[in-house]
Amino acid sequence: MTVYDGDGGAGAGPGPAPADEAVPIATGAAAIPRPIRSFVLRQGRFSPAQERACREFLPVYGIDYAPRALDLDAAFGRRAPVVLEIGFGMGETTAAIAAAQPATDFLGIEVHGPGVGALLARVHAQSLANVRVICHDAVEVVTHMIAPESLAGVHVFFPDPWPKKRHHKRRLLQAPFVRLLAQRLVAGGYLHVATDWEDYAHAILAVLTAEALLFNTAADFAPRPDTRPITKFEARGARLGHGTWDLVFRRR
Ligand SMILES: C[S@@+](CC[C@H](N)C(=O)[O-])C[C@H]1O[C@@H](n2cnc3c(N)ncnc32)[C@H](O)[C@@H]1O
Repeated sequence: MTVYDGDGGAGAGPGPAPADEAVPIATGAAAIPRPIRSFVLRQGRFSPAQERACREFLPVYGIDYAPRALDLDAAFGRRAPVVLEIGFGMGETTAAIAAAQPATDFLGIEVHGPGVGALLARVHAQSLANVRVICHDAVEVVTHMIAPESLAGVHVFFPDPWPKKRHHKRRLLQAPFVRLLAQRLVAGGYLHVATDWEDYAHAILAVLTAEALLFNTAADFAPRPDTRPITKFEARGARLGHGTWDLVFRRR
């Protein structure tokens, strides 16, 4: 498979002037509005190791995006609980969690090509048989490839905060997508979100609380579950006095 090129290149993150914001695709007679995405792809810089990992290991651990239901048992070569991770970044946390939970399968979705390479390199180096990777927009993957009531859990760690008010519409965790995620969980399955942006944390808490399919496992924010390792980025933030908010909800 190839890395995602939905916006013409690799590299992701909240950019200063999202190119696709409210910009219609000109078609001459009519204009079709582009969907508002939670990421902006920019030309990403692959290290030689990341490039090699994509070339060698995407055919082994990668799953191509296709707008049809994915057979999870076939994808992992066994029947086991599957946890979906959205936006794994460089895959540091993904690999650590997958190594600690060999009986669970982890499906990671990321649009940032160098990050995909970084996770693939870790998966290979640690011989992790329980990780698969899709390089595509998670909203499309969840909509078209993940069957209802098929996931044991969903991880969304440090989603892009889109701090400017006019960009809040790009935030990943909004009611329609949360409803979709909730429908993909088995009964009792969990949705674990972590963010270091206080106002996004409160917005997420409100959206998850309003979702009738979910219930909160805590009074509001949850203590960090031991299953989520602290990243270097988070440790540095903590030293600077920044907070982190974990939310753990389950499907009724
Ligand atoms: C702020 S980073 C956090 C990365 C990682 N989870 C961590 O904790 O370090 C957010 C990541 O989500 C990815 N992302 C944002 N929207 C996405 C989408 N719709 N589908 C897949 N990945 C997405 C971005 O490319 C970026 O790597």
